[in-house]
Amino acid sequence: MRKFLIAGNWKMHTTAIEAEALLKALPEQLQDAPNVDVAVFPPSVYLDLTKRILGGSKIFWGGQNIASEPKGAFTGEISSIMLLDFDSTMVILGHSERRHVFGESDELIRKKIDLALDGGLIPIICVGETLEQREAGNTETVVLGQLQAALTGLNTDFVNKVVLAYEPVWAIGTGKTATPEQAQDVHRSIRNWIEKHFDKHMADSMRIVYGGSVKPANAKGLLSKPDIDGALVGGASLKINDFSEIIKAAKAS
Ligand code: 13P
Repeated sequence: MRKFLIAGNWKMHTTAIEAEALLKALPEQLQDAPNVDVAVFPPSVYLDLTKRILGGSKIFWGGQNIASEPKGAFTGEISSIMLLDFDSTMVILGHSERRHVFGESDELIRKKIDLALDGGLIPIICVGETLEQREAGNTETVVLGQLQAALTGLNTDFVNKVVLAYEPVWAIGTGKTATPEQAQDVHRSIRNWIEKHFDKHMADSMRIVYGGSVKPANAKGLLSKPDIDGALVGGASLKINDFSEIIKAAKAS
């Protein structure tokens, strides 16, 4: 039985004061939720604050990115070891904003995945197509290609640890959500790919979450689909009531 993961990606949105208020409101949202894990991804400068507020709670936290090297002269970068210093357990990798705004390639993302896993962090690996790619009928080719670059050759103990996130680029921050059926179709293809390239047990236990304009109004429909195991939430994770409603939708699914 897969446990839902509801994860909040705060991107570069919060001030320290807003971050503190959000973090303090979070633990209450987890009463009686044995079927849901909750994680938050604040800007890295707030990880110390996050650790101080969430330490001892059931909520997980982590970084939105790491450098592709473990240490060295890389001005402005943050290493996996630094995330671990603040008790992070997860890291988002391959987010479409990293791929499309910062030009991260499949190869670079793979280096980061290897580093994260070597250090003991769980990567949430994001894959997803642009609108142009979807309209050209290439959704599956693009998504499975990104998956192949991310996972091929990884040892199975490591593959067992990863979480996958399907985030269609056209649905991120646009208010246009994939329909539950569109998302389910891609999640099913991803699970089939895992079964074909690894095994059925791994495919059945792999958590595949959906991201892209997840809101209280559409969470229930998405989370009711058999291959959707949670949500990677951007905008709505910054409003505690909305995030809490999404957690509630998972609890009830
Ligand atoms: P929105 O929920 O704001 O569309 O962002 C989704 C996302 O990018 C999560 O990683």
